[in-house]
Amino acid sequence: MVITIDGPAGVGKTTTAKKLAKKLEFRYLDTGAMYRAITYFFIKNNVDINSEEMVANFLDLLELEVDFPIDNQTKIVLGNKNISDDIRKKEVTDNVSKVSALEKVREKTVRLQKKIVNNNDFVVEGRDIGTVVFPNAEYKFFLTADYDVRAKRRSKDFSKVDENLQIDDIKKDLIERDEIDSNRTLSPLKRAEDAIVIDTSNCTIDEQVDKIYNYIKKV
Ligand code: DC
Repeated sequence: MVITIDGPAGVGKTTTAKKLAKKLEFRYLDTGAMYRAITYFFIKNNVDINSEEMVANFLDLLELEVDFPIDNQTKIVLGNKNISDDIRKKEVTDNVSKVSALEKVREKTVRLQKKIVNNNDFVVEGRDIGTVVFPNAEYKFFLTADYDVRAKRRSKDFSKVDENLQIDDIKKDLIERDEIDSNRTLSPLKRAEDAIVIDTSNCTIDEQVDKIYNYIKKV
């Protein structure tokens, strides 16, 4: 069974998906981590994302290992280096929207996502999971929250990788990133028509996990 959780940055998708997967004894896949890993790889190799040829060549060279242990975060290894923390840094965050809008990048990641899930029990989180990657998923959820709450949550994420940023700057970045993610031609951030919307502005993580869990279990 596949359960999709989509929504913008900072609504608590990752933590919710991880906890929900644990409760259901499913695996969990963070697709944003894959776009972040490709962004990291492009930055380290000075790939000009305006050059289709260069993007295609480097995507061919990319050896991305995605590990999705039960009950733990998606682990990303690039050429023997565990980059799971590096991909959370600001340098990557600032560039990931542009990289994830590239057709070749999306083709590669979506193919990989389908291969990983391969009819197993998974909670998959991202932006286009319920609309494009798994349109036939059994349960689809779309999380939202207001910008101030999202900025505060992102600030905590950044501090975990030793980056301390101003809340107002984070909020501005979130607005900009939503704009790019929602208006790109390919797989924009959009609620699937059959997705259940959950506003997480006033929820604790446990409350949002319970809401989803109870819905699935029809409690
Ligand atoms: O969830 P996140 O912040 O780690 O996602 C990083 C970026 O990747 C975000 O700007 C949008 C993009 N993304 C995407 O385009 N499609 C997905 N399925 C997941 C993430």
